[in-house]
Amino acid sequence: MFYSDEAKNEFIYYLKESLGFNYNDIYLNSERFLTEQEENLIKDFKKKKEEGMPLDYILNSSKFYENDFYIDDRVLIPRPETEILVEYVNNHFSSTLKLLDVGTGSGCIGISIALKNLSATVYGSDNSIGALEVASINKRNLNADNFLLIHANWLSCFGNKSFDLIVSNPPYIDENDEHLNDLKHEPYSALVSKDHGLGDIKKIVSQSTSILREGGVLMIEHGHDQESEVKNIFSTSNFSNILCLKDLSSIPRITIGTLKI
Ligand SMILES: C[S@@+](CC[C@H](N)C(=O)[O-])C[C@H]1O[C@@H](n2cnc3c(N)ncnc32)[C@H](O)[C@@H]1O
Repeated sequence: MFYSDEAKNEFIYYLKESLGFNYNDIYLNSERFLTEQEENLIKDFKKKKEEGMPLDYILNSSKFYENDFYIDDRVLIPRPETEILVEYVNNHFSSTLKLLDVGTGSGCIGISIALKNLSATVYGSDNSIGALEVASINKRNLNADNFLLIHANWLSCFGNKSFDLIVSNPPYIDENDEHLNDLKHEPYSALVSKDHGLGDIKKIVSQSTSILREGGVLMIEHGHDQESEVKNIFSTSNFSNILCLKDLSSIPRITIGTLKI
């Protein structure tokens, strides 16, 4: 009946999470009567999986760092590699920071930092109203009172020397990248950037030089093959102490730089 173990596990997870089935319902009680509503939900699940929809969109929920985030097709599904950025901020910066998560999407980065640093003021900005609505649901669900949302095209609306730290997971996929075929349920504007995927990174780095305080820090997530280009963008834009964080498989994920004084 299932074409893979993964498909079977996802179906079992769906039965538990969305229909409230328990162990007996799933494994022991083969005669269990399905209500009309349960039957419809199962048909709906099957249809969405046949269309290739990721489980997190079907469940409207995604686990990230220490919390469950509401998500829908207006935002990117939070990725595990982005947790490296959150962990680094939580371990290396003072908890009284003024920080901006630019391109916040579901708010997963900004909210995860805000909840661990209750004295920090964390702003989350996005140019997508839909994304800001999703982030606002997560702010409310997770009681992130020190996380504030702003509608903005990258850093255009912020004053000079406003932040100690700017973090971002911007769109960085090249418009001709074949992996986009596997990501057709996620918002195109959250994934793709011009200039071989580097267009938005260049804008954020350049605009950060005036929005960061002197000695402030910029952290940007990027593609595994963009490390040297991103390093070059940082170093030609007045950043020093540039380093790249790698994941457990030694894949380069996040570049960090300090604005020269
Ligand atoms: C890769 S997603 C990251 C979302 C979230 N921070 C995460 O890590 O899951 C990039 C985000 O940047 C936003 N974005 C794209 N262009 C933008 C722009 N010009 N100004 C502000 N945000 C933008 C998208 O709407 C999207 O939410």
